[in-house]
Amino acid sequence: MSAIAREAGALLLKHFRNRVAVEYKGDADLVTIADRESELLIRRRIQERWPTHDILGEEGGLQDSGSEYRWYVDPLDGTTNFAHGYPVFCVSLGLEYKGERIAGVVYDPTRDELFTAAKGGGAYLNLQPVHVSRAAKLAECLVATGFPSHKRHKNPNIFFYHQITLRTHGVRRAGSAALDLCNVACGRFDGFWEFNLNPWDTTAGVLIVEEAGGKVSNFSGGPFQRDSRETLASNGAVHASLLHEFEQILSGRGIDPLPNVQEYRK
Ligand code: IPD
Ligand code: CA
Ligand code: CA
Repeated sequence: MSAIAREAGALLLKHFRNRVAVEYKGDADLVTIADRESELLIRRRIQERWPTHDILGEEGGLQDSGSEYRWYVDPLDGTTNFAHGYPVFCVSLGLEYKGERIAGVVYDPTRDELFTAAKGGGAYLNLQPVHVSRAAKLAECLVATGFPSHKRHKNPNIFFYHQITLRTHGVRRAGSAALDLCNVACGRFDGFWEFNLNPWDTTAGVLIVEEAGGKVSNFSGGPFQRDSRETLASNGAVHASLLHEFEQILSGRGIDPLPNVQEYRK
């Protein structure tokens, strides 16, 4: 998996340096030739080595033959960054066996950082073990979130962004959910949440967080499931505090009002 991710990452980097044309899948949902070529390469490599495995890829959809093994492939996570020349993107490969996450690899070619995990075997960054942070208070945390590139008007995340910003060292919105998860795994972020992610965004990163000693759940603290519309990851120590804040926000209690623009103008 690591070799495949590295090869696809090198292909992305070649296109990134040459700047590629951007196409639209929706009003602000971008796709490039790099997304497509990367996925074709990954599918070819998986099929050469594991011809019976099934694959769900963001660009090519599901190839389902009823195999007990299924790959979740994001050939380019962070397409908007990629299209604008902002160097935060990766390849994400997750593998399930009988519906259980068993392996995950996320490769960031711009930093040459390879995050890997196998079920029960710990998490690694460039083959060195990594662990989640030890931060125990939300007020001392740096956390991350993301906003979808489609149906943005239906997403309430701006309220979560506002409230959590007021209660932490800050909230980063870097534009690659798979890397956000890996950054929780290696302790750069203490937490991450996002609405409506897809299994190709999360399968690898969730296993990497869990194997690094972190916790991943839905927004009520229930188990994170592959098709979950809610992803909340943390170092474990601040999970209850984040869930408490989410409960407050979802129930509309204890919400700080947004600053008044007219007041500011005066
Ligand atoms: C996107 C990125 C982004 C997240 C979006 C995803 P893509 O994936 O992970 O950080 O906020 O929800 O769709 O489209 O670049 O593969
Ligand atoms: Ca993605
Ligand atoms: Ca993608």
